Amino acid sequence: MDLITIKDKDYKGKKIFLRVDFNVPMDKNQNILDDTRIKAAIDTINYLLNQNSILILASHLGKPKGIIVPSMSLKPIAKRLSEIIKKDIKFAPDCVGPEVKKIVDSSKPGDIILLENLRFHPEEEKNEENFSKQLASLGECYVNDAFGTSHRAHASIVGITNFLTDKAAGLLIEKEIKALNKIIENPEKPFLLILGGAKVADKISMVKNLLPKVDTVITGGIMAYTFIKSNNWEIGNSAVEDKALPIAKEVYKELRRLHLEFHTPLDHIIADKISEDAKYLATERGTIPPGWIGVDIGPQAIEEYTDCIKRAKTIFWNGPMGIIEIEPFAKGSIAIAKAIAESNAYSVIGGGDSIEAVNKAGVADKISHICTGGGASLEFLEGKGLPGINILLK
Ligand code: 3PG
Repeated sequence: MDLITIKDKDYKGKKIFLRVDFNVPMDKNQNILDDTRIKAAIDTINYLLNQNSILILASHLGKPKGIIVPSMSLKPIAKRLSEIIKKDIKFAPDCVGPEVKKIVDSSKPGDIILLENLRFHPEEEKNEENFSKQLASLGECYVNDAFGTSHRAHASIVGITNFLTDKAAGLLIEKEIKALNKIIENPEKPFLLILGGAKVADKISMVKNLLPKVDTVITGGIMAYTFIKSNNWEIGNSAVEDKALPIAKEVYKELRRLHLEFHTPLDHIIADKISEDAKYLATERGTIPPGWIGVDIGPQAIEEYTDCIKRAKTIFWNGPMGIIEIEPFAKGSIAIAKAIAESNAYSVIGGGDSIEAVNKAGVADKISHICTGGGASLEFLEGKGLPGINILLK
């Protein structure tokens, strides 16, 4: 995959429209809960600033569905970015229109402007032509570093490049693609796939695409309960994705055909309710009584999975083993995160909850690559091209 990147170009003194993914989790008081995605854009921002350019940063936040939702304003992000890069950020109250144009036109080399939420305009998600043109009119060249949004054919990702033909990928996109390609193109064996969390049906195309390259698969969370139920074992009141049951059976057939090592947890932590003050205990696979809910993998499963991790040379992990928001049910995911950190394998982790487990375990710096894109990394690993990346190929 030959990407046009910012390293191929000269931006001296230019006005650059830089699409970033600042879609970060916030609480109801607009406090940023995790600024990983803001920090992930800093290398590109600094690289371009070093060329004395003017940076026009644009992002979406949440799903305001084409209307102005004050709680989804990017203003708090301007403040955080300014703290991180120790530099003033001009905040534009919209992303298009005469007022924004005026702010951009009065800027000098070295200035950074952050535009208001792109998705306050319905035209963004519709990839509408005139809106794309208005965005494009702000800059002289286009850089996309929003890996997490590159699976969306939106105006700021795709349409804009019809008008700003000087286009390139930023350093984050380059890094993400390199890490994911390493996994799909030439993974060192044994290759271990760790699957957890929910959205089972959504992840199946990725799983099917990776299976021929994989040696071992281990499962937890709703993913595991869905496979266990498709085998007619008892799962009590554990959450499963019923619509994925036929797909789980299909995957089993494929696993047998490819002679892969496949594990569902040998035991589970089960609870009488999903709450900090729940009663909980460990039980063997296939023995979850009615009324009880599987909330984590058990100690035997942790031991078995740790052994799989020790043997692996390549690891991809998507989705937690249990309910990580609740401390006693986060132990399985934290144990997996620690085992990966201690292994010598090339490890890639994607999906918000598995990343949270790695952060809770305090081992983020020991993971080879942490993806900033959930949906985007899944679609990439499905083998689907991403619209935002396809238009940046040489
Ligand atoms: C994400 O959080 O995965 C990206 O920012 C894309 O957001 P979206 O799913 O709302 O398009």
